[in-house]
Amino acid sequence: MNITFCATHINPKVWLAELRLALPEHHIALWNEQDPGSNPAAEAAIVWAPPQAFFDQQPQLQVGFNLGAGVDALLQKTLPVNMAVIRLDDAGMSVQMAEYVTQAVVRYFREFAELERDMRDGEWSFRRPRERSEFTVGVMGLGVLGLRVARALQHFEYPVAGWSRSAKSLDGITTFAGDKQLPDFMAACSAVVCLLPLTPDTRHILRRDTLMHLPVGAYLINVARGEHLVHADLLAMLDSGHVAGATLDVFSTEPLPSEHPFRSHTKIICTPHASARTLRSESVAQIVGKFKQWVAGTPATHLSGYVDAVRGY
Ligand code: NAP
Ligand code: GLV
Repeated sequence: MNITFCATHINPKVWLAELRLALPEHHIALWNEQDPGSNPAAEAAIVWAPPQAFFDQQPQLQVGFNLGAGVDALLQKTLPVNMAVIRLDDAGMSVQMAEYVTQAVVRYFREFAELERDMRDGEWSFRRPRERSEFTVGVMGLGVLGLRVARALQHFEYPVAGWSRSAKSLDGITTFAGDKQLPDFMAACSAVVCLLPLTPDTRHILRRDTLMHLPVGAYLINVARGEHLVHADLLAMLDSGHVAGATLDVFSTEPLPSEHPFRSHTKIICTPHASARTLRSESVAQIVGKFKQWVAGTPATHLSGYVDAVRGY
C-alpha cells in the first residue's frame, strides 16, 4: 500500500526512517509539492498541518493519521471526501500534560514565584498557606488529556471539577456538562485549565463573559489552543484583578510575536507550545498499530482516535 507523509515543522527524515522500519512491506513517500506527478497515488496519509494542495492533489486518500491530538488545523481544510481522520490519542502526551498543569497549579497555589523573588530580594519571608480544600481546580475538557490531568491533581488532594460536552460521573470529580452548566462550573473554580479541542463551539470560550463567572482572583491555565482565549479580555481581567494570573502554552499566533504583551506581562507565564510534545517513537508505534488494524479490515470508524468531523474532535 502507498502511504504519503507531509508534516510541517517536523524533520521528515527521522520519522520516515522509523515508519519505514516498522512497515517494510508498504511504500512510504515524502509528499513532493513541486512535482505532484511524482507522488504515487496513496491510500493513507500521515500528516501534521499540511497545506490544502496536499489534499487537492490526492483526492483518493482513504485515511489520514494526524501527528497530534488536536485536529483543528486539519478540519479547517477541504479534505478528500472519503478520507477518515484518525488522531493521536495520548501517545505519551497525557503524562506530560499532567506534569505541566500540575506544576503550574502547584507553583501558583504554593506561591513559589513570590518566595523565590523574596529570596532574591534578600528576604526570608513567611506566607500563610492557602487552604487546599477551598482551592478547586476546574478542568475544561474531560477527554484523554483532561481526565489524566484531573486525576494527577487529585493525587495532590486538590478538589477537582470538570466540564465536558456530555454528562459524566467520575469518581471524586464534581462534573458539569454543556453550556448551561458552564457558569456554575466556572464559579466553582479557583483555577481553571482549558483542555478542550478547538471547534466552532469552543473558539473564544475563554472570553470576558465566561471568565467573569470565575471567582475574583482565580488563575487561568490554557494548554489547549490559543484561539480558545480572547487575548484582550484576559489582559483587561488581569488589570482589573478579576483574574490573578495565567499560565499560557498556546497562542492564536505561533510563534508568539516577540512584542506581544503576554511575553513581558508580570502576571503571565508563557511557554512555547511545549506542555505535551508529540513523541516520535510512541506516535509511530500508535499509528503503525492503527494502520495495520485498518489494512486488516477494521473500519476507520472503529479505530481509536477516529475523529467525528461534524462534532469537530
Ligand atoms: P479529547 O479526548 O477529544 O477530549 C475532548 C474533551 O473536550 C471531551 O471531554 C469533550 O467532551 C470536551 N468537549 C468538546 N467540545 C466541548 C464543548 N463544546 N463543551 C464542553 N466540552 C467539550 O481530546 P484530548 O486528547 O484530551 O485533547 C484536547 C486538546 O488538547 C486537543 O484538541 C488539543 O487542542 C490540545 N492539545 C494541546 C497540546 C499542547 O502541547 N499544548 C498537546 C496535545 C493536545 P465529551 O467527553 O462529552 O465528548
Ligand atoms: C498538540 O498541540 C497536539 O494537538 O497534539
